Amino acid sequence: MGSTSIGPMFFIIPPDKSISHRALFFAALSKQNGIIKNLSKCEDVLSTLQCLHALGLKYTWIENDLEYDSSNFPITPSKPLDCGNSGTTARLLIGLLAGLNIPAKIIGDASLSKRPMQRVITPLTRLGASISHFQGKLPIEIHSNNSLLDNAIIKNPVPSAQVKSAIILAVIAAGINCTILDGYNSRNHTELMAQASDIKLTKTKDKIQILNTQPKLPTYFTVYGDPSSAFFLAAAAILNQQPITLQNIYLNKTRIAAFEILHKMGAIVCFQNSQNIYGENIGDITIRPHSLNPIIIPPEQTPKLIDEIPMLAILCCFTNGTSTLNGLGELKYKESNRLELIYQNLCSLGANIKLQNDSLVIEKSNLGGGTTIRTGEDHRIIMAFEVLNTVLHKKNIIKSQNCVKISFPNFYDELSKLHDEAV
Ligand code: S3P
Repeated sequence: MGSTSIGPMFFIIPPDKSISHRALFFAALSKQNGIIKNLSKCEDVLSTLQCLHALGLKYTWIENDLEYDSSNFPITPSKPLDCGNSGTTARLLIGLLAGLNIPAKIIGDASLSKRPMQRVITPLTRLGASISHFQGKLPIEIHSNNSLLDNAIIKNPVPSAQVKSAIILAVIAAGINCTILDGYNSRNHTELMAQASDIKLTKTKDKIQILNTQPKLPTYFTVYGDPSSAFFLAAAAILNQQPITLQNIYLNKTRIAAFEILHKMGAIVCFQNSQNIYGENIGDITIRPHSLNPIIIPPEQTPKLIDEIPMLAILCCFTNGTSTLNGLGELKYKESNRLELIYQNLCSLGANIKLQNDSLVIEKSNLGGGTTIRTGEDHRIIMAFEVLNTVLHKKNIIKSQNCVKISFPNFYDELSKLHDEAV
C-alpha cells in the first residue's frame, strides 16, 4: 500500500486505479487461482470486478486482498454488464468481449452514457468485431458472430490509453497476432502487465506487436500507490508549505509527468528508492515546497498528465507569471467536460484565465472563496477544488463530495491530516 509520511503523520495513498483494473482483466484471462494484493476498492474498480464476476471470475475479499479463481472464465453473462461511472471499465471490457467473442450488452450511468465509445468501436470493428450501438454511446452490444482477424495492423485513433488497452486486450483474448500503431505518450501499464504475464509483446516508439500467447498474471500480484491520487496531496502540501514524502508509489514515466512539472516550476521533487517489480518502477517521491514559476506544457506531453490537469491548472494561479497548458482537447471527454469546468470555475473565482481552442492561458491570480463550484459530479474536479479550499480563508462550496469514492475513497481523511498539521 502506498503511504506518505511527514514526521508523525502517516498518509494512506490508495492503490493505483489503472493497475487495479488491468490486474483484474489479466487475472480473468489467466484462467488460474491467484491473489491480487492491495487491490483498489474505489468504485470504478468495483465496477470492473462486478462485470468480470458476471463473466465467470470468482473472488473473495480478504481485507484488502482479492483471492480469485478464473478457471471458469469466460461465461456468457445473464444480464447487461454495468460499468457504472467507469470509462476504463467500459472501454477495456468492450475490447475484452470483442476478443472473447462473447455476446453481451454493456451499460453505464448517465455520465458514462454520454462519453464517446466510437473511439474503441472503430479500431475493434476494423479488427473484425461486430458491435451495435447508437451514435457511438452506451448501451452497446457485442455480438459473437465474428472472430477477429489474425495479423492485422490497427491504428489507435486517439491519444488514449483506454483505447490502446482495449485493442491489446481484444488481441490477447482472441489469441491472435497483431500490430498496433500508437505514437502517443499515454500510460503503458497494459503493455508492461502483458509482458509480466508472459505475453510476447514488443514495443517501439510508435508500434506495439503482439504474438499469440496465453497470459499468466503472476499469481501473487501486488498493487502499489496511485500517483494521480497522490498528486492531490502533493499539491496540497505545496500550497500549505509542507514538505512531504509519498511512499510506494508507481514511478512509471507515463504517470509522474505532473510531478516532473512541479519540479520545473520550482518545487524540489526527488524520486527515491525505486525498485522494479514486474516491469513497473515503484518508489518514493519527496516534495519540498518553493514559490512556483509559470510553466508551458506542449500538447504532446498532455497524455502523460491528463488526470492531473485540473490540479495543475489551479496551481498555475499561484505562480508569478503566465502559464500555458496546451493540447487539452481530451479533457472534454472525461467524467465531465473538465476543460469547461476548470475554465468556468476559475473564472468565477476571479482568475485571470483564457480558454483558447484546446489551451488554457493562466496568469497569477488571487482566487476568491464563497462561490459554489460546478463539480459536474466529477471526482477530480471536486478533489482539485477541495485542495484549493485548504488555503482559502473563505471556502468555496463543494457538493457531491461522495463522488471522490470513484477513485480516492479516503481522500477527505488524508487531506484533513495535512491541513490539520498546517493550521
Ligand atoms: C486511464 C486512462 C486515461 C485516464 C483515466 C484512466 C486508464 O484515460 O484519464 O483516468 O486506466 O487507462 P484516457 O486513456 O482515455 O485518456
